Amino acid sequence: MAGIMKKCFYLMNLLISISMIIYIYSEHYQRKAERRTLNVRESTSAITALGDKRTFILSPYYDPRGRTPSVRVLVIIHRRVKKLYCWFHCDYNSSVSVRAHINHHRDWFHYAYGTAALLCEEPPDCPYRYISIHWSKGQNITHLPRFEVRNRPPPAAPSVNFTVCISTMYGNYNNVLQTIQSLEMYKLLGAGRVTLYLNQCHQNLEKVLRYYVEEGILEVIPWPIHKFLRISNIWRYHLSNNSQVHYFAQSATLNDCLYRNMYSSKFVFLHDIDEIILPVKHHDWPSLMESLEKRYPEASVFFFENHIFPAVANSSEWTTWGDVPGVDILQNIFKKRVFGKNRKYLVDPRKVYQASIHRVLKKDGKHKYVPRRLAFGFHCKSRQPASNDSLITDRTLWRYNVSLTQNVNKVIQQVFLHR
Ligand SMILES: *[C@@H]1O[C@H](CO)[C@@H](O)[C@H](O)[C@H]1NC(C)=O
Ligand SMILES: *[C@@H]1O[C@H](CO)[C@@H](O)[C@H](O)[C@H]1NC(C)=O
Ligand SMILES: *[C@@H]1O[C@H](CO)[C@@H](O)[C@H](O)[C@H]1NC(C)=O
Ligand SMILES: *[C@@H]1O[C@H](CO)[C@@H](O)[C@H](O)[C@H]1NC(C)=O
Ligand SMILES: *[C@@H]1O[C@H](CO)[C@@H](O)[C@H](O)[C@H]1NC(C)=O
Ligand SMILES: *[C@@H]1O[C@H](CO)[C@@H](O)[C@H](O)[C@H]1NC(C)=O
Ligand SMILES: *[C@@H]1O[C@H](CO)[C@@H](O)[C@H](O)[C@H]1NC(C)=O
Repeated sequence: MAGIMKKCFYLMNLLISISMIIYIYSEHYQRKAERRTLNVRESTSAITALGDKRTFILSPYYDPRGRTPSVRVLVIIHRRVKKLYCWFHCDYNSSVSVRAHINHHRDWFHYAYGTAALLCEEPPDCPYRYISIHWSKGQNITHLPRFEVRNRPPPAAPSVNFTVCISTMYGNYNNVLQTIQSLEMYKLLGAGRVTLYLNQCHQNLEKVLRYYVEEGILEVIPWPIHKFLRISNIWRYHLSNNSQVHYFAQSATLNDCLYRNMYSSKFVFLHDIDEIILPVKHHDWPSLMESLEKRYPEASVFFFENHIFPAVANSSEWTTWGDVPGVDILQNIFKKRVFGKNRKYLVDPRKVYQASIHRVLKKDGKHKYVPRRLAFGFHCKSRQPASNDSLITDRTLWRYNVSLTQNVNKVIQQVFLHR
């Protein structure tokens, strides 16, 4: 198990290192005149412990949307932490501390730790690129890790139209076929990027993820949250009362993904790898969104009904991809009748401040429930239905049969047969 994880993280570390090197070089040439040696500990991991054992820093994001421009530091924090400071490292040799406003998100599900944003107003006359976080405003802070503030300045225009944020993949996840099918469906529907938070996966799946990272569509963020907190892998607090944070801190990953893609993607979907927002009337997301934007010009959030297609327990007997482990979504065309609950959604990320799993906690603009005749959330998960009575047939996915099958075959060839 440790070996698999090591490999999973190894690839990511390598990618981070490469982009760091490219970044440092481009900076070197761009800003030769004001070059300074970077003798600081710069933090690039997805989670950094502050040292008080109660605050875990994800990343600071520039946020120009308030009355004064601020830096919003996403954290996982204990409910009792009351006082923290942002240290802005001015480009010259001084640093300025600013008291952080600790803004708890409301979806803590009764756990002691949850997602929050530390809101720190930019100090005047301090051109900065890095900040640190500390509980003291006067201490010697040279030893603190420094975080580069992301989204600063925000890019003028998005580079992709649709990003899919996949919150935590965990356990020895080995649902290879469905993962490939989902990723290929996202591409067919119009995704320009997929951002996935990876706690753990099987080495088969690791190969698949590596393929898509190389292809350029996938960004994998290592998410070793279990090294910092006791996490629950079940939903309800009262069933897992020894754990400290809800469901692999899913809410934190969703918000990190939202801010990461805020200015680089026109729209962002937030859901799981076994879910696909499937247009019904239109053929892909661009034409769906063109229609939804016309219909609801004020909307910044679009909710989609969750349609559960209970996967047959072992579909490998029927699939044409017999050796590849996992669920074949093309075989699952029966869905449950209950649609109302657990909606997932798409946002204009620049209008959203706080995202949660099935809800948006804070936003500008309106939200709309998209009627099922336009689109719905195809959610194929392995669970045997209690009876077949409640199932209805839905072949919407079969419209993509030919291209999906071709694309999946190609990936399986490349990943498992050529290497
Ligand atoms: C850097 O710090 C020194 C001493 O702390 C100070 O004398 C000097 O003016 C500072 N340089 C700048 C560019 O602020
Ligand atoms: C701050 O701490 C570092 C080492 O941790 C030390 O080298 C430096 O002299 C200290 N600076 C001040 C102003 O105390
Ligand atoms: C994004 O959508 C616009 C139309 O809304 C289109 O002109 C543009 O080419 C799309 N960009 C990408 C990267 O697909
Ligand atoms: C904790 O969970 C156990 C069962 O796992 C239960 O018996 C107990 O009452 C729970 N305690 C609290 C404080 O909820
Ligand atoms: C699924 O079916 C295949 C082929 O019949 C079989 O080899 C495999 O062991 C089955 N897996 C499970 C989990 O039942
Ligand atoms: C549901 O349908 C499947 C395939 O048609 C069948 O194998 C299974 O026994 C049925 N289950 C129930 C509970 O009727
Ligand atoms: C789509 O693919 C499935 C599984 O390969 C197959 O059973 C079904 O007949 C196909 N449907 C169409 C309309 O081609």
